Amino acid sequence: MNRQGSARATREAAARASARRKPPVDSPVPAPSVLGRVARPSGPSGIRVVLALLTRRDTPNRIFEAAARAHGPVTHIHMAGEHVYLVSDPDLVTEVFLTRAREVMKGRGLQAARPLLGNGLLTSEGEFHLRQRRLAQPGFHRERIESYASTMVSESLQHEGNWADGAQVDMVDEMTSLTFAIVGRTLFGADLTGDARTFGDTLADLMTGFGQLSAIGNERIVRALPKGRRLLARVEDLDHVVQRIIDEHRADAAAGIEHDDLLSWMISSRDDEGSSTYGTAMSDSQLRDEVMTMVLAGHETTAMALSWAWWLLSENPDVAERIHAELTSVLGKAHLRAPNFDDIPRLPLTHAVVAETIRLYPPAWIMGRRTLNDMRIGEWDVPSGSIVLGPPWILHRDPAYWDDATSFVPDRWLNGDGHFDETAPGQPRGAWIPFGFGNRRCIGEQFAWTEAVLVLAALASRWRPELVPGSVVDTTAAVTLRPRHGLPMTLHRRARPSQTSAPAMDER
Ligand code: HEM
Repeated sequence: MNRQGSARATREAAARASARRKPPVDSPVPAPSVLGRVARPSGPSGIRVVLALLTRRDTPNRIFEAAARAHGPVTHIHMAGEHVYLVSDPDLVTEVFLTRAREVMKGRGLQAARPLLGNGLLTSEGEFHLRQRRLAQPGFHRERIESYASTMVSESLQHEGNWADGAQVDMVDEMTSLTFAIVGRTLFGADLTGDARTFGDTLADLMTGFGQLSAIGNERIVRALPKGRRLLARVEDLDHVVQRIIDEHRADAAAGIEHDDLLSWMISSRDDEGSSTYGTAMSDSQLRDEVMTMVLAGHETTAMALSWAWWLLSENPDVAERIHAELTSVLGKAHLRAPNFDDIPRLPLTHAVVAETIRLYPPAWIMGRRTLNDMRIGEWDVPSGSIVLGPPWILHRDPAYWDDATSFVPDRWLNGDGHFDETAPGQPRGAWIPFGFGNRRCIGEQFAWTEAVLVLAALASRWRPELVPGSVVDTTAAVTLRPRHGLPMTLHRRARPSQTSAPAMDER
C-alpha cells in the first residue's frame, strides 16, 4: 500500500474505532425492577468466589460447579456489584435461554469484549442481531459446509506435512493454528497463515486480556484502564488485517472476480423484501465486526474441542485404536485416502468422540444473560438487570442426567443401529447445550461438527499423539475452556507417507 493509501486506511480505522465507541445499535436497557426486597436463593459468599478467582485457588468452572452442587438448581452469588443467578437445572436453563429469550440480553462477559468484537453476531441484540443473522446464514447452509469440507481436509494434511515421527508438540498450538488457517480459507478465502503469528497471537492475548477485564463488566471503565488502552491499541493492528481482506474482496468483486466464501456472501447480501431496510448492504464497519467475530468464534472453540479430543484419546488407547480401525475401514488400509464430506455418516465413532469430548470439556463452558424485566426463575423472583448464567460444564456432568457422568464413554452417543445420534444418551433437552439455544444458537454448529470430524479423521488415521508422561493436564476457564498448561504430546506416525495418497487437486 502507498503512503496515501496507508494514511487513508489509518483514518478509516480511526473512524471505525470511533463508531464503535458509540452506543451499540439496538442495545436494550433493562427495565427498572418493580420488585421490592426479594428473597434470594442461597449461594457462596461473593467475596470468597472473587478471591478464589483472583488468587486462582481453583478454576472458574470448578468454583461454579461446587457452588451449584452445594446450593441447588438456582444459586445466588453477589459478586462484583452484580446479583448473579447460576441456573443448573435443564428445564430452567431452557426456559430462560430459549422460551424467554426476548426477555434477556447478552451478559457482561461479552459486553467487555465489545471493543474487540464490535457489534457482530455474538454481541449484537434485538432486530439488528436478527438482520445480521439472516445476512450471514446462507454462508452456513449445508451446501456451503459441504464445499468447505475439502478445504478442512487439505489444510489438515498440509498441516501434518510438518509433523515428524517422535516429535513433541503442544497440541493446543497445533490445533489453534490449524483451525485458524481453516477459518481464513473457508470463510474469507484468505491465506491468514502469513498473518497467523501476529493475528493469532494478538487475538489470543486480547481474548485473555478482555476475559480478565470482563469481571469489570463496564465497557467505559475497561476502555479507561491502562491495560484496556493497551489492549485497544492492539485491536487496531487486527483492524488493519481485516480491512485488507475486505478491501481485496471488494476490489475483486468490482473486477468481476468471484469468491466462494462467507465474506463474499456477506458483501453481496441485501436485506430482503418485507424488511424496513430492504435492499441495504452491510457497511464496512459492520463487515469488520462480523469478520472479527467469525475469526474468533470460528477457530478458538473448535481448536479447544480438538485439543481435548486428542488428550482423551491418548488417555483412552482402546478408543483410539477403535477409531483408527473405523477410519482405516472407510479410508483404506494399504492406500489411505483423504476423508471427505460423504464419509462423515460412515464415521459414527469419530463423531461420538467429538460429542463426548464437548460434553466433558464444552469449549463454551458457560453462557451469560442479563434480565431485561423482572422474571420468575423456578421459585425465585429475579429482579430486572440481574445476571443469569447457564453452564454447559455443570449440566453436561450432572449424574442426574448422565450415566457414569464424568467418564469418557463415546459409545453412549451410538444408537441401537450403531449410528451417531445426539439423543441416544436419553438426556433432557437442557442437559446438552454445547451450542446454546434458539436464535442465539451457534451459527457455526454444522461447520464445527464437520470440521472436528474431518480433522480428526484426516489426522487420527495417520497419527497417534500421546501425552508426554508426567505432564499435568488441568482446565482453565476464560472465554473458552482451555487446557491450563497446554498439551505436550509426542507424535507417533501410523501410516508411512508412501502409503498415503495425497488429496486430489480438486480437494485443495
Ligand atoms: C466446537 C465448536 C463450537 C462451539 C462449542 C460453539 C459454541 C457456541 C455457543 C454455545 C454459542 C452461543 C453463545 C451464547 O448463547 O451466549 C455460539 C455462538 C456463536 N458461534 Fe459458535 N461454537 C463453535 C464453533 C463455531 C464456529 C466454527 C463458528 C463460525 C464459523 C461459530 C460462530 C458462532 C457465532 C457467530 C455465534 C453467535 C451466534 C448468534 O448469537 O447469532 N462457532 N457458539
